[in-house]
Amino acid sequence: MKQKPTALITGGAGFIGSHLGDKLLGEGFEVLVLDNLSSGKLVNLSSGIEFIQGCTTDKNMAQKLVDKADTIFHLSAIASVQASHENWLETHRANQSSTVTLLDCITNTKRSRPQSFVLSSSASVYGNPKTMPISESEILSPLSAYAADKAASEYHVKIGSRIHNIRTSVLRLFNVYGPRQDTASPYSGVISIFASKIMNGEALTIHGTGDQTRDFIYVGDVAEYFYRANQKADANSQTYNICTGKSISINELSHIIADICETKIDVTHEPVRDGDILHSLGDNSRAISNLNYGPQTDMKTGLRHTIVT
Ligand SMILES: NC(=O)c1ccc[n+]([C@@H]2O[C@H](COP(=O)([O-])OP(=O)(O)OC[C@H]3O[C@@H](n4cnc5c(N)ncnc54)[C@H](O)[C@@H]3O)[C@@H](O)[C@H]2O)c1
Repeated sequence: MKQKPTALITGGAGFIGSHLGDKLLGEGFEVLVLDNLSSGKLVNLSSGIEFIQGCTTDKNMAQKLVDKADTIFHLSAIASVQASHENWLETHRANQSSTVTLLDCITNTKRSRPQSFVLSSSASVYGNPKTMPISESEILSPLSAYAADKAASEYHVKIGSRIHNIRTSVLRLFNVYGPRQDTASPYSGVISIFASKIMNGEALTIHGTGDQTRDFIYVGDVAEYFYRANQKADANSQTYNICTGKSISINELSHIIADICETKIDVTHEPVRDGDILHSLGDNSRAISNLNYGPQTDMKTGLRHTIVT
């Protein structure tokens, strides 16, 4: 009987990682999740997933798990610009050293079957780009410690492919939304935060004018892209924008959510946060053509899934 492939997902108890776990289970993988539960939750994990509590920068722990895996999806991170400025060194370890730790484990593994590695990077590596929509060839210009660690992680992944012949892919995620997104995340949870405030009749806080735009993509589509990016991983280490190619403003977003919740909104404005970018719109043509998949979930449908769960 053919052996099931094994996937290790770091950060698999988090928002995106837990959806990826579900996708991989459905595709017949054995799924191992390494997570320190700093923001992830056990309740996010489906039955059938093997959970290991620990830190991705723990070399011994990481080596044992990497030795069992055919593929490593590296999603663990402290996904917050603010945290990366308040706890620079701690977030640097979680967001960059973790990548080197895992790649180093792959180079040291005793297993004979080749392994692949998929990095969850971020559109924040572009900073405020010169051209819009942003293509993957845009110059990287990180504006935060979080983005700097993502950019550097990407470079280490390329080194992993170039020097060690590791099969890799890099995904630059734009703004991902969907069920299980943590409202406590100030960086990634704008939709969950808005939805929860609107449903509780509280005022929304918008940083800046609200005219800033984002390219939001539904988490189910993102999980599909991770799966396909692993299938295409090779020593040429391709980088993909993971986005819809459409953007909406934060003001528009608040109105759509209010419509879905059938309520009026009250907004207070606060200063723009350090490191926040103004506009974000990705060019997803490479992902569509190379990974043979375009986002399937439109904004209103995705928001309904997110708000009713
Ligand atoms: N959500 C988005 O819109 C978005 C956008 C761009 C990039 N990303 C990236 O996608 C990945 C997943 O993000 P998410 O939104 O699911 O965030 P999340 O906070 O829900 O998930 C991150 C997970 O990593 C775990 N973790 C953190 N540090 C760890 C460590 N040192 N060892 C082990 N586990 C650790 C957390 O407990 C959590 O479960 C991250 O790498 C993030 O930077 C997310």
